[in-house]
Amino acid sequence: MTRDDVQEAGSQVSGGIDPREPGLDEAAAEAARLRPEIERHNRLYHVEDSPEISDSAYDALFRRLQALEAAHPSLVTPDSPTQRVGADPLESLPAVEHAASMLSLDSARDVAEVRRFDERLRKALGDGDIRYILEPKLDGASLELVYVNGVLDRAVTRGNGRVGEGVTENVRTIPTVPLRLRQVERPAPPLLSVRGEAMMYLSDFEALNRRRIEAGDPPYQNPRNATSGALRQLDSRIAASRPLTVLAYDIMAVEGTVFETDSEGVAALREWGLETPERVTVADTVDEIVAYHRAFAADRDSLDYEIDGVVVKLDAVAPRAVLGSTSHHPRWAIAFKFEPRKEVTRIDRIFVSVGRTGVLTPVALLRPVEVGGVTVSRASLHNRDELERKDVREGDLVRVQRAGDVIPQIVERIDEEARERGESFAMPGACPSCGTEPVEKGPFTICPNHFGCRAQLKGRITHFGARGALDIEGLGEETASLLVDEMLVRELADLFDLKEEDLVPLEGFAEVSARNLVGAIEERRHVELARFLVGLGIPEVGVAVARDLAMHFRGIEAMRAASPEALEEIHGVGGKMAAAITGFLGTPDVREALDRLLAKGFRFVVPEAPEVGDEGGWGGKRVVITGTLESFSRGELKKVLEGLGARVTGSVSGRTDYLVAGENPGTKLEKARRLGVEVLDEERLRERLAGKGSDAGVAPAPNAAVQ
Ligand code: IVH
Repeated sequence: MTRDDVQEAGSQVSGGIDPREPGLDEAAAEAARLRPEIERHNRLYHVEDSPEISDSAYDALFRRLQALEAAHPSLVTPDSPTQRVGADPLESLPAVEHAASMLSLDSARDVAEVRRFDERLRKALGDGDIRYILEPKLDGASLELVYVNGVLDRAVTRGNGRVGEGVTENVRTIPTVPLRLRQVERPAPPLLSVRGEAMMYLSDFEALNRRRIEAGDPPYQNPRNATSGALRQLDSRIAASRPLTVLAYDIMAVEGTVFETDSEGVAALREWGLETPERVTVADTVDEIVAYHRAFAADRDSLDYEIDGVVVKLDAVAPRAVLGSTSHHPRWAIAFKFEPRKEVTRIDRIFVSVGRTGVLTPVALLRPVEVGGVTVSRASLHNRDELERKDVREGDLVRVQRAGDVIPQIVERIDEEARERGESFAMPGACPSCGTEPVEKGPFTICPNHFGCRAQLKGRITHFGARGALDIEGLGEETASLLVDEMLVRELADLFDLKEEDLVPLEGFAEVSARNLVGAIEERRHVELARFLVGLGIPEVGVAVARDLAMHFRGIEAMRAASPEALEEIHGVGGKMAAAITGFLGTPDVREALDRLLAKGFRFVVPEAPEVGDEGGWGGKRVVITGTLESFSRGELKKVLEGLGARVTGSVSGRTDYLVAGENPGTKLEKARRLGVEVLDEERLRERLAGKGSDAGVAPAPNAAVQ
């Protein structure tokens, strides 16, 4: 039995060793000696790869502790190594707030982008020396570990960056995660929030898949999926059986200690017993960064774990606060990505798909090929221009990659001199779904039969039920297609008339699934207005704009009645977007279909603007932003101000309370002066915001103490 097996065997393993039934005090003293001892051997074995004792000696220690705890359950502590075996299953994973926001990273694809990043930093920080810390960019699942007084208190997935899922029970089972920080070189701080990557070594992943195949279970697509799945298990005994590991790379928050550089932070993480990525180093120039990137790229295929680039971070901690963050990423770090992995395959066929807006898209059906761990079998060819530019035909050999490592793309055609090529592909003269003659709009080919084309209706239904829209469970592409083909749904409004008995006879439906779908649709009569707006598929309106529209108009009729000028008053809505919205809502067919949909009786919910006292005087104030600001993009500032209860609008009027004016403000400033609107320059704005920025999208400094 290896030491992993001992742990996998679960808490049932208590027999076998006579606990000699010592009294409670004696048992407590012995358990207190055993725990750090076992954890030390655990670390030596799993983290440092230099075990000092045999597996059987380790087993004996482990079982002795289990026996003591079994005899005296009050002795079980959350940091006891015995707690690594998994606990009773949970009903669901709790939502847990992070100690500091977990932002993403901005990325650079080439050296020029890294140079620009370096120049930006040098400019912002003056002429002093700049030092970067370099690390591999691990391709796993981001995780927060929080230690309170040195003991692992919780582990939280990234989630939306502010709140994630509590996966503490599962993470406790990971042998490389210390349940208690080692305190040999330095004491554990009262609070430490660490960010790291949960992942699987490729060799472990392959062994896991071999075991699954032998057991008749489907293998995982790639280590990242397997990791996320294991982390989010409700039954931690299952997580315990998966070969997870965590490499720590960032201190998100710490109390009682200040690190001047990230390098010191990483060294401290190591001293506390956490495993950190290999080859962490520092660099002073872009050339050194490039050399590091090149070396890792060359070794990429021989590493036992997946990486998709290197991460470059400003090493000094204090200046990071000066640079700040956007709501998405810190300005002091960048991911220097590797070229996406490319593979070669053949195009079996090219067909045309019709989307919800009527656009005819040529799609290549590929001989399935694995690209970076994911099987790719089709790739969009986008439009006529792309078709012509790539000049790919049925039967051609092509190189494919996953753009942004997600969406499959054909990069280029590979010439085969000996092979006779097929005909070049021409867009059809009739919509493949409804037969209508398409019209050409720029490079796009469009079926103009918006209300009579089944393919478009299928697309609209799928979009209406999609996650960012009404989120109707069970209303995916297949079901939408079935509902249209069976003539049960001729427009969106018909969804709300569906009955269980209509669905039961359909292929793939049974009583329960029919009831569930009808129920899920019914439930969505009560829905957030923004989701409904997304669901309508208004041109140019994505999730963010829909939210702004909902917050501004607070009801659908007010929005339908709005003029383009009224729409433009909303920050972020420009002339083109306003015209697209009014144009769409004003089309007679759309207007009538929307009337029929609304007649089904919706109750729309619009969240209140965030309640905030009148601290700083922003609550309910109308603010317009103009010109270029040094420390914020306009979008970021908008978020910050809205977080403080202000309404940010796009144009100055007599009702505007403040105009925030950056450099080159233009006509809005003149208008504000004319109307007597108070103008805030960046300095006054900063004074007004002082102390109120950190929970409104501006990330705290990496070492910010958590109050
Ligand atoms: S630093 C805000 N360092 O990359 C800065 N991130 O696209 C904190 N990642 O989800 C992140 N390796 O989980 C950092 N050495 C590394 C990393 C790393 C992988 C992940 C991270 C994040 C993603 C960003």
